[in-house]
Amino acid sequence: MKQIISFFGAMLMLMACSQATEISIIPQPQQVAVQKGCLKVAGLPVNIGQSEQMDERVEWLAEELAERLSLVTGKSSEVDNDEPGICLVENTSLAPEHYTLTVEPKRKSIVIEASDYNGLFNGVQTLYQLLPPEVYGDKARSDVKWVVPAVAIQDGPRFSYRGMHMDPCRHFWTVEETKRYIDVMAMHKMNRLHWHLTEDQGWRIEIKKYPKLTEIGSVRKSTIIGSLWENLEYEKEHGQMKEDGIPYGGFYTQDEAREIVAYAWNRGITVIPEIDLPGHMLGALAAYPELGCTGGPYEVWTRWGVSDEVLCPGKEAMFTFLEGVFDELMEIFPSEYMHIGGDECPKTAWEKCPACQRRIKTLGLKSDAKGTKEQKLQNYVTSRLQDYLAKHGRKIIGWDEILEGELAPGATVMSWRGAEGGVAAAKAGFDAIMTPNTYCYFDYYQSDKPELEPLAIGGCLPLEKVYSCDPFEGIPEDCQHHILGVQANLWTEYISTTEYLEYMLLPRMDALSEVQWCAPEVKDYNQFLGRVEKMFKAYDVLGYTYSRVAFGEPGMKGVPGGSAK
Ligand code: ACM
Ligand code: ZN
Repeated sequence: MKQIISFFGAMLMLMACSQATEISIIPQPQQVAVQKGCLKVAGLPVNIGQSEQMDERVEWLAEELAERLSLVTGKSSEVDNDEPGICLVENTSLAPEHYTLTVEPKRKSIVIEASDYNGLFNGVQTLYQLLPPEVYGDKARSDVKWVVPAVAIQDGPRFSYRGMHMDPCRHFWTVEETKRYIDVMAMHKMNRLHWHLTEDQGWRIEIKKYPKLTEIGSVRKSTIIGSLWENLEYEKEHGQMKEDGIPYGGFYTQDEAREIVAYAWNRGITVIPEIDLPGHMLGALAAYPELGCTGGPYEVWTRWGVSDEVLCPGKEAMFTFLEGVFDELMEIFPSEYMHIGGDECPKTAWEKCPACQRRIKTLGLKSDAKGTKEQKLQNYVTSRLQDYLAKHGRKIIGWDEILEGELAPGATVMSWRGAEGGVAAAKAGFDAIMTPNTYCYFDYYQSDKPELEPLAIGGCLPLEKVYSCDPFEGIPEDCQHHILGVQANLWTEYISTTEYLEYMLLPRMDALSEVQWCAPEVKDYNQFLGRVEKMFKAYDVLGYTYSRVAFGEPGMKGVPGGSAK
């Protein structure tokens, strides 16, 4: 009998190991060497030894890991520096954010080594993905084999900037919803959240010096129904768009923003706030109309698109305002970068505005081959903010329009109108972040059958296209060091629920993470698709909505198609 039990015991062990050796990790690690055997993790202690001196967050990471394992295995794992177990070890020879992960069943140990906190954090994310997807759950699962295969992994990212953008302006995301977004970024080893905090449709961050920004600027009286394009047609005939008549608002207090910053920081993510200026500013103009060229009145916009009403750089008060806003932001956001927007700023108001024209004259700005005098006025706005922020030790990122005219050295360009902005920036010696709409706009449809998908802004960006993004396309080899990394943008004009937000995000975020993390020779779309199926199991456990369009199943459950609306 004993023999039979041990035989079945060994069989179970083997089955458990063979399940576990199907290693499926996104983003795909650089090197994975699978060895024989596997290790039970239930009850393993977490040991941080000397690494607690590396970064104050290591203790948090160890507790988090121990708590998660205890929760799902039902057997207590403790942080204990006297026991081997799962060891988080400092190794200064490794490059930033790189890690090694070694599972040694004989020693009953898992060793994760890194030279910095993000490296350890990334190693722990890989460990979770080596475990069954139920590791992400919120209850003990005694029916799950809590084993990891014996492996030796060496891994590190291709790019240092691995971003995801979030738009709480067109539709607002609560602190909890934002944390969910950060959680899924962290799973994918991303390290920058670009938080787009101001828009024509709403100002979303408390600024104590300017309370009307949130009192007035954060609420629109109504929102258009359906697509902007259909509404533009409707407006031609009826003189107005179709609106829902329901006030819509929301903003983050400074304490809430700090909470998000800290939450992200523990997960290896820096939050970069964006104040989109001088265009896309109706939220601020509704609150402080004196900041515009005409003095208003202005309204928080109820429609999508690009407004001709923008900030007035002819007025010194506008600069005082922006400096006051950034003074408070710098207190909340420790990021070395502040995003100053700069996209889609029509110049029609400036052309007619006496104050703007006076400023152009005083500065001696002239239209020439490099740009119009109004474009150069925008360069002046960019430079003044760049100088102001530099005095406080911060650098700027701006959308690729900041390249028009003349851009001062030291700015970083975010290329969104295709890759052209990034190519031009890198050739001109500027750092660039690639967010080309052609590969990285997650507000686009996911298939060429929009009638089967929820209403989106347009375009077509299937999973495979995201995966095929080459951030160096068109960039001469000697300029490629200027490409800091890659980011996807998820504008939310048509996205009003977390389910829809996640549907647009997943699994395109999986593809993005491999563009950001993996060397091109490691990438393989068909093999990636197999690994996405495993991620879906994790998303099921976590309750994330995702799209199966890439697997021939278009549409989001329960949501009608877009074009039909
Ligand atoms: C942008 O999509 N307007 C940057
Ligand atoms: Zn003006």
